Formats: sequence, structure tokens, C-alpha cells
Amino acid sequence: MPSELLRVQNVTKTFGRGHSAVKALRGIHLHVPPGDIVLIMGPSGSGKTTLLTIAGGLLKPTTGEVMINGHNIVPMSETKLPTVRRDNIGFVFQSFNLLDSLTALENVEVALFLRGIKGVAAQKRATELLTRLGLRDRLHFRPNQLSGGEKQRVAVARALANDPKIILSDEPTANLDAKNGHDVMQLLCQIACQEHRGVVIVSHDSRLRSVAKRVITIEDGRLVREERGQHECTCTMKQHTFHTH
Ligand SMILES: Nc1ncnc2c1ncn2[C@@H]1O[C@H](COP(=O)(O)OP(=O)(O)O)[C@@H](O)[C@H]1O
Ligand SMILES: [Mg+2]
Repeated sequence: MPSELLRVQNVTKTFGRGHSAVKALRGIHLHVPPGDIVLIMGPSGSGKTTLLTIAGGLLKPTTGEVMINGHNIVPMSETKLPTVRRDNIGFVFQSFNLLDSLTALENVEVALFLRGIKGVAAQKRATELLTRLGLRDRLHFRPNQLSGGEKQRVAVARALANDPKIILSDEPTANLDAKNGHDVMQLLCQIACQEHRGVVIVSHDSRLRSVAKRVITIEDGRLVREERGQHECTCTMKQHTFHTH
């Protein structure tokens, strides 16, 4: 395993050109070793989502390098990139991106199908994940029957389905009340600590400082501050058993 799960090196991103060009990122570095929990804070429009999307291989930077678990993804072809993403990245989108015609269970199963896990094994694992996120009674509900917080938790379960090395999460607690927000953060924290994964969270929510190991602030596409987080996390709890494959 490389010593870093994720390395973003001197990345810039400019949207558009000429007079209407927007410099969203102006030379960003981000290194995430196994077990790290990084919180990226910054005002609206500072480039947080752009950075996370580039780090997850969903958007190409204008310049710079992105290494995902040892794979140099910027020059990588669109035929190879999805496999690197599938095997390494769990993405929790701010807007959930759940499939409206599928139930909570099926939304998580879809992620497993992509990895070749089907039938009873997929159902068992999806049920375990959703149960762990407090959705045991919502397995067969469709997104339009779920609250914002419940949809968010389905999106987290889906991101964890394939045991990703790196979990990228955009505003994970935005739609959760304090208790659910705390539970989701503890889960992400345990996964990072006990399973040596990397977690990168983008948020306005300064309560998340309490679980983060590092807090990075970006403003106008530049890193302006890096601090230690409090990292109060129940990492000593016994290892949970997500692995069914
Ligand atoms: N697809 C896009 N096209 C043009 N401009 C964009 C696009 N995505 C983001 N931007 C601009 O880049 C800047 C950073 O956006 P974003 O990364 O979404 O910020 P944040 O997540 O911190 O609110 C903003 O000025 C935004 O308007
Ligand atoms: Mg954003």
C-alpha cells in the first residue's frame, strides 16, 4: 500500500476562459495517509466542492497531479478511470444522487453490483450497512418517502458499500439533526481509524472539528490555514464487521 491514499499536488482549476474565467483553485496540495480524517472548511465559493470532485477523479484539474492509492489519474483514460474510482473511492454527494425509482436497499445494492456482488450477498451487506446507519425500518422506502437526513444516510451507506480506501464527503451533516450528525461522523471516524482508510470531509459545520485530525481552511482557491483537529472519536471501539467479501 502506498504511504498516501490520496495526493493532490499543486492543483489548479479554471472554469471557462477569457473574461468569464473563474479560478476556482489556485495551487492546492492535499496529502491523505491511511487513517487520516481531514476536514476542509471555507466560505461558500472558496473551491471546496471543486477540490473534492477533483480528488475523487470526477473532474480533471487544469494543472497539477492527483494520485489515488498510487494511481496517477490525471493522464488516465476515461476507460480506466472508473475502475480506479470504483475500487478506491466512496463519494457522498451533497445532493445525495440517489436513484428515485429504487428503494434504499436497492440504491446500496447497485453500488455492490458494480463490483460483482449480487443476490443474497448484496442484500445482506446492504442491509447491514443501512442498519448500522439506523435505517433498518426504511430498507424498502424510496427516496421520496425518506427525510433529508435519511437520504443522506442512504448515501453514506452506498459510499461505504465497496469498502473504499478513501471516503470523500461533501457536507455530510448538512441535513442531519445533532444526534444523527454525530452518529454519522463517529462512523466515518471509526472507519478511518480502525480500517486505516482516508476520510476527507468538506463542511461549513465547525462541530466536525471534534472528529477531524486535521482542519484545512481554503479561501478563494488557496489553502490559508492548517490546524490540528480535536479528534475525539470512539476509535477504540471494537472493529465492526462490514466485510462480507
Ligand atoms: N462547473 C462550473 N462552471 C463554472 N464555475 C464553476 C463551476 N463549478 C464551480 N464554479 C465556480 O468555482 C468557484 C468554487 O466553487 P465550489 O467549488 O462549488 O465552492 P464551494 O464548494 O466552496 O462553495 C465558485 O466561484 C463557483 O461559482
Ligand atoms: Mg460546495
